[in-house]
Amino acid sequence: MIQLKHSGELNLLFSSIVIVSNKKTKLDKSLSDEVHLFHKKFHKGEEKFDFLKTLNGFIFFVKEDQKVEELRVLGAKIIGYLTKENTSIHFIGESDAILAVAEGLLLSSYQFIAYFKDAEKKKLGLTEVFLPVDISQKKIDELVSIAKAVFWARDRVNEPVSHLNASQLAQHIADLAPEAGFSVQILEKTQIESLKMGGLLAVNRGSIDPPTFTIVEYKPEKAINKKPIILVGKGVVYDTGGLSLKPTPASMDVMKCDMAGGACVVGAVYLAALQKLKVHVIALVPATDNRPGMNAYTPGDVITMYDGTTVEVLNTDAEGRMILADALSYANKFKPELVIDAATLTGAAVRAIGTKASVVMGNADNKYFDLLEKSGNETHERVVRFPFWDDYATEMKSTIADLKNIGSANAGMITAGKFLEHFVKAPYIHMDIAGPAWLDTKEDYKGQGGTGACVRLLYNFLKKLK
Ligand code: BES
Ligand code: ZN
Ligand code: ZN
Repeated sequence: MIQLKHSGELNLLFSSIVIVSNKKTKLDKSLSDEVHLFHKKFHKGEEKFDFLKTLNGFIFFVKEDQKVEELRVLGAKIIGYLTKENTSIHFIGESDAILAVAEGLLLSSYQFIAYFKDAEKKKLGLTEVFLPVDISQKKIDELVSIAKAVFWARDRVNEPVSHLNASQLAQHIADLAPEAGFSVQILEKTQIESLKMGGLLAVNRGSIDPPTFTIVEYKPEKAINKKPIILVGKGVVYDTGGLSLKPTPASMDVMKCDMAGGACVVGAVYLAALQKLKVHVIALVPATDNRPGMNAYTPGDVITMYDGTTVEVLNTDAEGRMILADALSYANKFKPELVIDAATLTGAAVRAIGTKASVVMGNADNKYFDLLEKSGNETHERVVRFPFWDDYATEMKSTIADLKNIGSANAGMITAGKFLEHFVKAPYIHMDIAGPAWLDTKEDYKGQGGTGACVRLLYNFLKKLK
């Protein structure tokens, strides 16, 4: 990862420079007359961004008076210009705006290239970013932690199932523990069996790899909350649909992304722990692949869930709710203040609002939704609240069991949420991140493939809790 440091002397020879400024910003005297002149002209013009090519790099000009998100996006744009020879960047100018540009720049420096033979050649040249001394070390550390957590989540999502089965996902989570200072407990198949987590075991039946159930607990001294916040993340390491098999193009082919919810909640707790937030938070990640193997669960099956609820399975592709339901009932034992789940749960959520936001709903107090919405706008990981009326729950009643696992063709993201709500005793927020978790084509600092969506959102939300 790129190193972030406080700047020493400007060294024009080996570096590119990003000047984030307004009309009144005084530029360093060591910069050439050409740069001073260009800067003046830039601020007379309409453009919010421009650049000068130098011998070994670039001098980028960014106007300060832009929305935070526009500044982040410019950070990504700057990365796009750099060549392999551009190994360092110096930021000068207005600190707050610099932080936003630097965030975009850092987040867009992510690469998933380990599987290329010539990975070293493909690797970005940029290794150091220098920031002005009036940006505090604390802010720099936070930025680095954000990138670490988001990249961790992206890596997990981008990793194909051949390299990331449920056990490997659990191990990757456990590997974070020493650095993060949180505890990780992995329940193996035998323990999951003795707990009778029927939903997780049912989905796992078509797989030759065992399921896992990972419990991450971050409990700082003097936490502000008496009862924990619980984050539950869907950990379907690959979703073929099971016997209700998915078609391949633009559907099954991207389903390595189906553990993005799990990656998101662990990423958020990892970030919270790195930043030593004073919030007691627990992440639960039920994990398995969903396959039509030998003894796969079938449409028509009736499954007894962890809490004793029976579920008639009418579509094995509605597997996320089967494994999440068990995790949500398991959460009850902690008597949480609030339960939030994040899941790539429905195509309906994507069809409704696309990749630009997450669908959220729930029965928690409005104050939590307000905080979430605020965090969403600040991080630009926006959320759209959907209705959660009980009317939608009637669709999930079965004629032979307590519930069935699919509703009608309408409002699939809401009926899925109502199914999940059945298992939760605490105030509850459901986040369907199926849209933003994955991008087929590159988009600014979010990149292509796994985006690490909602890591920054949930971290920001935890930070705001009182
Ligand atoms: N993992 C999928 C949902 C999904 C769709 C995630 C697109 C990311 C992008 C989920 O398990 C699924 O298959 N849902 C079904 C539910 C249906 C059978 C009730 C769906 O949305 O079609
Ligand atoms: Zn599915
Ligand atoms: Zn799925």
